[in-house]
Amino acid sequence: MRDGMSESLRVAIIDDDAAMLRVLEKHLVKAGYEAKTFTDPLEATDAVTKGCFPIVITDICMPGLSGLDLLKSIRDNSPYTTVICITAFGSVSSAVEAMHAGAYDYISKPFNLAEFSLVVNKAAERYTLHREVEQLRDQLQQKYSMSNIIGKSPAMLRIFETINRVARSQANVLITGRSGTGKELVARAIHFNGDRAARPFVAVNCSAIPEDLLESELFGHVRGAFTGATADNIGLFCAAEGGTLFLDEIGDMPFSMQAKLLRVIEDHQVRPVGSAVRKTVDVRIICATNKRLDVAVQRGEFREDLLYRINVITVSIPELHERVEDIPLLMEYFLHKYAEQMGRSVPDVPRETMDILLRYPWPGNVRELENVIERSLLMCSGDAVKPGDLPLTIRHYEPALDLQSIENARLSMRDLESRYVAHVLKKTGGDYTEAADILGMSVDDLKVKCGNVPFDRTLSLPGLKP
Ligand SMILES: Nc1ncnc2c1ncn2[C@@H]1O[C@H](COP(=O)(O)OP(=O)(O)OP(=O)(O)O)[C@@H](O)[C@H]1O
Ligand SMILES: [Mg+2]
Repeated sequence: MRDGMSESLRVAIIDDDAAMLRVLEKHLVKAGYEAKTFTDPLEATDAVTKGCFPIVITDICMPGLSGLDLLKSIRDNSPYTTVICITAFGSVSSAVEAMHAGAYDYISKPFNLAEFSLVVNKAAERYTLHREVEQLRDQLQQKYSMSNIIGKSPAMLRIFETINRVARSQANVLITGRSGTGKELVARAIHFNGDRAARPFVAVNCSAIPEDLLESELFGHVRGAFTGATADNIGLFCAAEGGTLFLDEIGDMPFSMQAKLLRVIEDHQVRPVGSAVRKTVDVRIICATNKRLDVAVQRGEFREDLLYRINVITVSIPELHERVEDIPLLMEYFLHKYAEQMGRSVPDVPRETMDILLRYPWPGNVRELENVIERSLLMCSGDAVKPGDLPLTIRHYEPALDLQSIENARLSMRDLESRYVAHVLKKTGGDYTEAADILGMSVDDLKVKCGNVPFDRTLSLPGLKP
């Protein structure tokens, strides 16, 4: 076993020279690796493209399938496999080609075993390092995530706690939060971490179903109950039997339906439209809304008695701009998610890019962040997400200077003046004459204020805070 390794690494070697394979295999096993040899490259393809060998060593020149083709199919199917190519004596071009096609390293025939060990050990070390990084990332995610909900802000940690606590209870839960904050994700987490997890989770968007259909959608109907009811329909309550019914956008439920829902929650019985028979149902209700239901109650749009029934426990998810510390973690999470989907490596996020993302107010919350990251990953060609890869609206976002935020930032008159000058210059595209006109000062005075430096619209002005 190699130093520091608790399990032996699996290495596949592919070469049509059986005698050579035996020598290499013996050598690898002695060095603590688990080696598997293949003389037939086609047979090997199947095994090595499944990703079960962290290291693959293949001859380039073989009958049947060339090592380069094998290398390409490994690249496509198992991006984390490290490939070492064995190239023919003196063939620089095939070595170059192999490296271009994504080989990690190559070794030229003839080679001695010490040389061979060196290359393989280097690859093994790289693999182990990668795995350690992955493990650290997993730990990070386990610590700050729950059923794919990511967050480390105090607010999110409290939400994880609440989910754990309420998942085991049968209490009805109301989840509130603006669009894209993760309400449905939380609803699913409550269901899938509780003892109803093996039973259905049925989601219904109350605002998406026309008023006259909602009753039969929820409670079902019998055949002939109304025109178009050509067959019995069990309804969503019965479909969720034993599980959870997620009523999304409950604030949009028509007033008349609210009374019917209240009755079902109180009696645990539904009566399908057109039927005289009531059925007993065992369903947990989780509701979500992006409206203030207390305000809706005051306006007479939402029944107060229903509100009491559905919000035995309330989970309020804050907006993303109120928990900025979650942004880097969410970003890391989405970068991994989409990089993996696209089969590419995860790019870095330099400080400049991160600053822009942290400053933006994210009106569409986590959903918007997720979309922006997916999009930026498509735009970004290198190994870092540059500010230029971000959408213009985000890159050019400037916080509005209202009097309250000026006061909050404790801006002095001088700071304020500088910022306004910079703002106007930016808006006029660096045209001093036009800017001076707006600012009500002479062009000369303006130039003196800016230190006589020509305006570069991409940079902030000298001496001015951005
Ligand atoms: N904390 C989070 N961690 C990871 N992904 C999240 C988080 N919050 C939201 N998302 C993702 O953002 C998207 C929107 O989440 P979700 O649909 O749960 O929001 P919502 O509050 O129900 O939005 P809406 O009010 O628009 O229906 C989903 O793709 C979800 O996976
Ligand atoms: Mg939703």
